[in-house]
Amino acid sequence: MTDTEMIAAGTGGVAGGGAAGGGAAGGGLPARVDLVFAPSGSRIRVPPGVTVFDAASWNGIAIDSTCGGHGTCKKCRVKIAADPPAPSHLDIRAYTAAEIKDGWRLACRTIATRDTQVEVPPLTTRPKAATVGVAFGQGSDITAEAADAVVLEASLGRVDELIHIGRRMRAIALQCAIGGMGLSIVGMGFAAAGFLRPVPGAIAQEIIDVLAILNALRMVLPSEDLKEI
Ligand code: FES
Repeated sequence: MTDTEMIAAGTGGVAGGGAAGGGAAGGGLPARVDLVFAPSGSRIRVPPGVTVFDAASWNGIAIDSTCGGHGTCKKCRVKIAADPPAPSHLDIRAYTAAEIKDGWRLACRTIATRDTQVEVPPLTTRPKAATVGVAFGQGSDITAEAADAVVLEASLGRVDELIHIGRRMRAIALQCAIGGMGLSIVGMGFAAAGFLRPVPGAIAQEIIDVLAILNALRMVLPSEDLKEI
């Protein structure tokens, strides 16, 4: 079996932006499959059962889309030149017979079950692909392995909480970085003007570092506004 010989198409694809749910791996499938994207040459390993579209999105490989992987825009064109999989009914609607024969498929309808090489055309739209995958529930083994975040409770409230935690951490990190650098630059200005001698300057720098660290420690403190839903 060659490297490019291994992918199967499916119609139970996965909506981008959420947990991958379609195409669960059956018996005999490998634990991981390799997808090689051209022309970038990016090689990614994913659990079998995720769509090519989600696998690409979660790994920062942009594929055209305006529906986010819901199978309605028909823009997620990819070409599987070597031994292309059987087309889904949406592929048949989206492509001419010649294109189907050439290996053109909708990435969001194509489920990875084997190693394969996927050609991605240049973008023609600003894609609405998910950049972060979230798996819900404790029974979604395949998606949990592929996702960036796993929410054990099937609750959107938890996703809201995750978003708030992420925003809060980012804000605190920026405060520490920008605040620390700002104070250091002010100190260097004083030192350059002759108002700050080396030893007091070094002490001031240490104080700035400690203040930045103490501010960063706020991340572990409980916050009351972590949810809106
Ligand atoms: S992403 Fe829209 S049809 Fe595939």
